[in-house]
Amino acid sequence: MRSLFVHTVLLLLVVGQVRSLNPSLNDDLLGLIVFKADIQDPDGKLESWNEDDNSPCGWMGVRCNPRSNRVTELNLDGFGLSGRIGRGILQLQFLRKLSLAKNNLTGSLAFSLAQLENLRVVDLSQNNLGGPIPGNFFSQCGSLRSISLANNKFSGHIPDRLSSCFTLATLNFSGNQFSGLLPSGIWDMQGLRSLDLSSNLLEGEIPKGIEGANNLREIHLEKNRLTGEVPAGIGNCLLLRSIDFSDNSFSGFIPSTMQMLTLCNNLNLHKNSFLGEVPEWIGDMKSLESLDLSENRLSGPMPISLGKLQSLKLLNLSKNSLSGSLPESIINCVNLVVVDVNQNFLTGKLPSWLFGLSLQKVDFSENNLNGNIDASVKSLTDHSRRSLLVLDISNNSLTGEIPSALGDISSLQYLNLSRNSLTGGIPDSIKNLKALDVLDLSNNQLTGSIPMKIGDAVSLRKLWLEKNFLSGDIPASIEKCTPLTSLILSHNSLTGSIPVAFAKLTNLQTVDLSYNKFSGTLPKQLANLAHLISFNISHNQVQGDLPAGGFFNTISPSSLSGNPSLCGAAVNKSCPAVLPKPIVLNPNSSDSNPDSIPVNPGHKKIILSISALIAIGAAATIIIGVIAITVLNLRVRSTTPHSAAAFTLSGGDGFSSSPTSDGNSGKLVMFSGDPDFSTGAHALLNKDCELGRGGFGAVYRTVLKDGRSVAIKKLTVSSLVKSQDDFEREVKKLGKIHHRNLVALEGYYWTPSLQLLIYEFVSGGSLYKQLHEVSGNSLSWNERFTIILGIAKSLAHLHHQNIIHYNLKSSNILIDSSGEPKVADSGLARLLPMLDRYILSSKIQSALGYMAPEFGCKTVKITEKCDVYGFGVLVLEVVTGRRPVEYMEDDVVVLCDMVRGALEEGRVEDCVDEKLRDKFPPDEAIPVIKLGLICTSQVPSNRPDMAEVINILELIRCPSEGQEELV
Ligand SMILES: *[C@@H]1O[C@H](CO)[C@@H](O)[C@H](O)[C@H]1NC(C)=O
Ligand SMILES: *[C@@H]1O[C@H](CO)[C@@H](O)[C@H](O)[C@H]1NC(C)=O
Ligand SMILES: *[C@@H]1O[C@H](CO)[C@@H](O)[C@H](O)[C@H]1NC(C)=O
Ligand SMILES: *[C@@H]1O[C@H](CO)[C@@H](O)[C@H](O)[C@H]1NC(C)=O
Repeated sequence: MRSLFVHTVLLLLVVGQVRSLNPSLNDDLLGLIVFKADIQDPDGKLESWNEDDNSPCGWMGVRCNPRSNRVTELNLDGFGLSGRIGRGILQLQFLRKLSLAKNNLTGSLAFSLAQLENLRVVDLSQNNLGGPIPGNFFSQCGSLRSISLANNKFSGHIPDRLSSCFTLATLNFSGNQFSGLLPSGIWDMQGLRSLDLSSNLLEGEIPKGIEGANNLREIHLEKNRLTGEVPAGIGNCLLLRSIDFSDNSFSGFIPSTMQMLTLCNNLNLHKNSFLGEVPEWIGDMKSLESLDLSENRLSGPMPISLGKLQSLKLLNLSKNSLSGSLPESIINCVNLVVVDVNQNFLTGKLPSWLFGLSLQKVDFSENNLNGNIDASVKSLTDHSRRSLLVLDISNNSLTGEIPSALGDISSLQYLNLSRNSLTGGIPDSIKNLKALDVLDLSNNQLTGSIPMKIGDAVSLRKLWLEKNFLSGDIPASIEKCTPLTSLILSHNSLTGSIPVAFAKLTNLQTVDLSYNKFSGTLPKQLANLAHLISFNISHNQVQGDLPAGGFFNTISPSSLSGNPSLCGAAVNKSCPAVLPKPIVLNPNSSDSNPDSIPVNPGHKKIILSISALIAIGAAATIIIGVIAITVLNLRVRSTTPHSAAAFTLSGGDGFSSSPTSDGNSGKLVMFSGDPDFSTGAHALLNKDCELGRGGFGAVYRTVLKDGRSVAIKKLTVSSLVKSQDDFEREVKKLGKIHHRNLVALEGYYWTPSLQLLIYEFVSGGSLYKQLHEVSGNSLSWNERFTIILGIAKSLAHLHHQNIIHYNLKSSNILIDSSGEPKVADSGLARLLPMLDRYILSSKIQSALGYMAPEFGCKTVKITEKCDVYGFGVLVLEVVTGRRPVEYMEDDVVVLCDMVRGALEEGRVEDCVDEKLRDKFPPDEAIPVIKLGLICTSQVPSNRPDMAEVINILELIRCPSEGQEELV
């Protein structure tokens, strides 16, 4: 019904026949109905616009002249209207004000001012109107006083016809895409008071004749591409109050005629290319409240006359090339609130007015200011204690201490003293800054610790203290700074562990603790920090597993590097199920209760760390590991007393054993078919000729009939041994391996309950004895080197045959009469029914410290690199003469860690065995130590293989030959 009506009206409008249709309908009502028909009104603001009314004068947004009842104003600002401004508007012949600002109107200007000759005010700002302004739009401005097309999408040139709008006082085209030159006659509009062409794409110079536009109050040309000099005529516009030419490409000097603009309170020339000095006459522009000359090419000193600007609130001279000092005269600028002189070349001391005025925001950063803060803080007034919000004096050359009085500026929100040469401690008074949001003291020479009560600064969001000399712990009080998002403490000497309290800082995003001396494990609760973006703990001494889950699942390895004892998937290093320290169960312990972990003062830590590990839930495997160890302890303990009883070797019928009953059904095989052994030999395997015992059993010495000695190993783990067929196959394979540095396997004896292995007898005793038990004449450097090289060769040979030794330790290395090492027990692990890493690790529990970390990790494959690890430990043991793990009063010293630490501190020579005193060549010993450390890399793939090790050792021994080869 209604649309039919509108449709009809539209048709008639076109034909110019409306009046004849219904003389009672006035043009205005019809025009408005048609206008409404063109737009969408989702908020129903125009509901009162009813075509059945006699007059539109009562409609929302419509005002009429009370006498004529004709519509004079249309005020539809912010009505949420969209659609186009249609031709209906042209019916409003008495319209003086058209204000459609802040809607979502689209389309282009489809009318000209000539058609609405009574219009005085047009405000179409903040819509989505666009396209070029039609050429004839300004052809007859009538009595137009004010037009705003600001914040639309108008484009094209500003029509030259505009200049003919002599009555125009306010012109606002800001925030469009107008391009090209300013209309050349623009200053002909002599009534112009306010011109805003900012934020367009205008270019070229300011047209001549501005001195004629002497009614101008404000001129905004900022954010265009204007060039050239500012015309001197601007000084004639004596009424100017606000000048903004910022963000253009103006050049030349600031015209001195401007000193006449004594009413001007805002001068913004920011981001141009103005040259010369900040003019001395600037002090004559007495009304200035805001002076922004930042980002130009101004040089020279800041004029003293700035002190004459008593109304000045904002002074921005940043990013110029100003030199000299900050003038003391500024103390007279009693209204000053913001001072920004950042990025200049200012020198001298901090001015007294820094704390003497009631400044709110101060940026003196990136200059060359010197002296100390203390001197100027003496002038701190009560007022500035409550006014100063932002203080940035970073990147200067300030010295001395941070004055405690800064803690009195209770209003402070941002404090940046970074990149100076400040010394002394961080004052405790910082805790009084309850509103402090950012504290940056980084890159100074601060000492002492982080104030205990830092947590009282409860608003802190960013705490940056990196690159100082701070020591001590992170205070637990930090948990109170719940808004904290960024904590950067890197490059200090902070110690202690990461407090669990961190987990309460749920807003944390960036944490950098790198290059400190933090230790302990990372609290697993850190995984709950939902907003973490980075957490850098690299180059510390933290250890153990990472928190599981959350951010830590994707943490980058570089954030973790340089923490040798850290483990977990992220560092590509298995966490030993039985961590290096926890597995240090004292092999010498006489504790008779095998169910418990031996307790002595030195082991408290160990037990704690086991329980802690269990507590953090990472430890199902650890529990199994511990049980496996204790169970095996039990086994060994309960079987050895009996098995130490005699076994008789008698000729002809092989071994007979007692007390086992099935001894006679045994099978003896000698690989060499040695008749002497099989015919007349007999020996008593009893405690008296026990050579030693290890994880696989006790070893006895026996003499064959021909006088030759052999060593016989009685395997104590019979239930773990494979079936007879498998056993024989493996043993025969081992029997085929011959190398001068391997103890040869000469035969075996099998019964279901007793297995013996017959080995070549090596006279010189074990390396362990030579290193740790023999007093007096100890091994020379050359002997030690020969031993290391011999072990390396034997392992290379084994690995070449795809045999992993699994059980390297100094008590398994025998030394023959010529000083050559012979590695025993090779490949015995192959006799186990399966290569179970828990059994392996428990088998070698007496070889603590030799065990590669991957034994503890189910997911890491065990390769021959575990022997390389054991070899590395042996190397260190041979060079240092110290056991892989030593028990001190109240500590456990792990050899690799100790040597690695000494190397990092540059005193690795101190580690060499005291018995060698000065009788060793450092140029061999130190590379050998380094080789040992490389072999004990936590990550298997980082360890060299044994062939490489041999090459390296040979290079170390004959460095000159090596170099010749390398050339
Ligand atoms: C304005 O109108 C355009 C086109 O009709 C539409 O895409 C946009 O969402 C509208 N915006 C608002 C704020 O209504
Ligand atoms: C021009 O219009 C914009 C948008 O309405 C407004 O923000 C700006 O203050 C106006 N300029 C002047 C000089 O009034
Ligand atoms: C001073 O000007 C610079 C750039 O010219 C600007 O980044 C800075 O925010 C201004 N300073 C203040 C306090 O307004
Ligand atoms: C410190 O100031 C110097 C000189 O102004 C500048 O080169 C350097 O980039 C600044 N450093 C920072 C971090 O702002």
